[in-house]
Amino acid sequence: MKRPQMIAGNWKMNTTYEEGLLLTEALINAHPDPLCEIVLCPPFTHLFGISSLIKTSPIKLGAQTMSQEKNGAFTGEISADMLKSCHCKFVIIGHSERRQIYQEKNTDINQKLTTSIHNQLTPILCIGETLEERNNQQTLSILQNQLKEGLKGLSNDLLINNQIVIAYEPIWAIGTGKVATPDQAQEVHQFIRNFLSSQFSDQLAQQTQLLYGGSVKAENIQALIEKPDIDGALVGGASLTAASFSAIINGAVQTLTR
Ligand code: 13P
Repeated sequence: MKRPQMIAGNWKMNTTYEEGLLLTEALINAHPDPLCEIVLCPPFTHLFGISSLIKTSPIKLGAQTMSQEKNGAFTGEISADMLKSCHCKFVIIGHSERRQIYQEKNTDINQKLTTSIHNQLTPILCIGETLEERNNQQTLSILQNQLKEGLKGLSNDLLINNQIVIAYEPIWAIGTGKVATPDQAQEVHQFIRNFLSSQFSDQLAQQTQLLYGGSVKAENIQALIEKPDIDGALVGGASLTAASFSAIINGAVQTLTR
């Protein structure tokens, strides 16, 4: 099965509202008819404004996290309904910064992921190991646990019908300039696909887009997505200027059309 390639930008806590609109406009103009999926994940405050800008463009919108609660007294939180009313299609769940800085546990991530799926938002589930875990040869067992716990209680049919995206983001590669080698990333992506196949179904394994994240740039995107199980990238720092993000998109498209 040929899976569509996706280049997603996680802006994290960067850009003012005005800067976000300018960046979006530049990307719309640069990619009127992209040969890969482009997803922007700006801060919450930008979602509605950006959704109006991209209405007639193929660019899609995602959020960086969300609450597992439906509504109520949860000061500062944002619900799935709120994201849908801002025309979000995607939501990043379990980013390592949420896990490490805000102490999100696999159980929280599982609840958020379940809530997103029940609300027809496509979760981009992030998993990844620390450098210490990698050095101790624990990478695959850590990732297996994050996958198992993150996807707990979800049926194969639900996942097939609603679609999930999984992003492998080794923590030691995030914001460090130290990218995983294409072989390291491919090994993990193949492991994730095998996990989906053995725990759910081959159909789910074949249809699920697996993204790599961690110091992705124009210089390394091509070698990464040439690998059979890497279906795109979740980009942090290099998604913050139109020039650097466009260069990654163009690099990915060149590889696809080669
Ligand atoms: P960098 O691309 O800045 O390493 O960030 C990756 C990331 O965390 C994307 O979610």
